[in-house]
Amino acid sequence: MNRKDEHIKYALKYESTGNSFDDMELIQCSIPKYNLEEIDMSVNFAENTFEYPFFINAMTGGSKKGKEINRKLAKVAKECNILFVTGSYSAALKNPDDDSFEVVRKENKGLLLGTNIGADKNYTAGMKAVEDLKPLFLQIHVNLMQELIMPEGSRNFNEWEKNIVDFVKNIKVPLILKEVGFGMSPETVKKGMELGLKTFDISGRGGTSFAYIENMRGENRFSYLNEWGQSTVSCLLGLKDYINKAEIIASGGVRHPLDIIKALVLGAKAVGLSGTMLRLAENNSTEEIIEIVNSWKEECRMIMCALNAKNVKELQNVKYVLYGKTKEFYLK
Ligand SMILES: Cc1cc2nc3c(=O)[nH]c(=O)nc-3n(C[C@H](O)[C@H](O)[C@H](O)COP(=O)(O)O)c2cc1C
Repeated sequence: MNRKDEHIKYALKYESTGNSFDDMELIQCSIPKYNLEEIDMSVNFAENTFEYPFFINAMTGGSKKGKEINRKLAKVAKECNILFVTGSYSAALKNPDDDSFEVVRKENKGLLLGTNIGADKNYTAGMKAVEDLKPLFLQIHVNLMQELIMPEGSRNFNEWEKNIVDFVKNIKVPLILKEVGFGMSPETVKKGMELGLKTFDISGRGGTSFAYIENMRGENRFSYLNEWGQSTVSCLLGLKDYINKAEIIASGGVRHPLDIIKALVLGAKAVGLSGTMLRLAENNSTEEIIEIVNSWKEECRMIMCALNAKNVKELQNVKYVLYGKTKEFYLK
């Protein structure tokens, strides 16, 4: 089976053992200031303004099944006016006949589109991705533990830093350094800023586990690492000092509008969903997903109203309670 198809198969199979968003409760308001229609959900990151604060994050391309998922989710994104990010473009670079990425552009004029490539790649791979897809931004993914567990994974990592510097120097669209579900530390963000980056998708633990996926693809030798990394909420709490210095995007384990709003309360500029969108694509028609996503937009507005937040910036004034493991992490 194609590697991407195996990723899809095991991503659908995995059930996370815990989600840090469940350790967070928002303090609601009883005397509201705003009418529902006054609430503005727009966000700004990577030099663009988006009408809604959540997006479909990097997953597929590079196989027949990947193409169908891209097609379906890009259509949803276009119809709902939300951002869609393709999976790593490296699959298209390996196979010039691959049309599983460009299909999203071709079939959806005006689609808000981002694309993705690994930090293990030379900047010329990123340039080609940008040239072919004309995205609003390029995500550079960092996936160290995935590579280490992956049977055919890379064993050489000391070029990543230089590659990132070359991306910064040569790529003309905004760049986002992105984790893949293991979370990003303040040290990583600090280092990324020193290398010239401004925007970081901290993609934390709580949803898809690439440790599990690669364990299942291999001989399952390292199942004890399936929960590797830091949870999304812990990462956001740890990055409080960077909220105003860098652009922090949240992803990892986001299931519904309440998780989206919690991430925004913690200072995220926007929120990405992968596993949740994959499950929707697997189990629903395009029309059904459009209906769900359109409803999420209204549900986000509803929750913002109940928190007395007129816009996403005001969400940062909302008080919250932490419980359990996440609270312990925060106290340390
Ligand atoms: C099937 C699948 C394929 C993925 N492929 C990529 C990829 O090509 N590049 C990338 O940066 N992240 C990739 N991811 C990681 C997601 O973008 C995201 O960081 C991670 O799944 C955590 O978010 P989630 O819990 O919402 O799934 C993939 C995720 C899934 C489920």
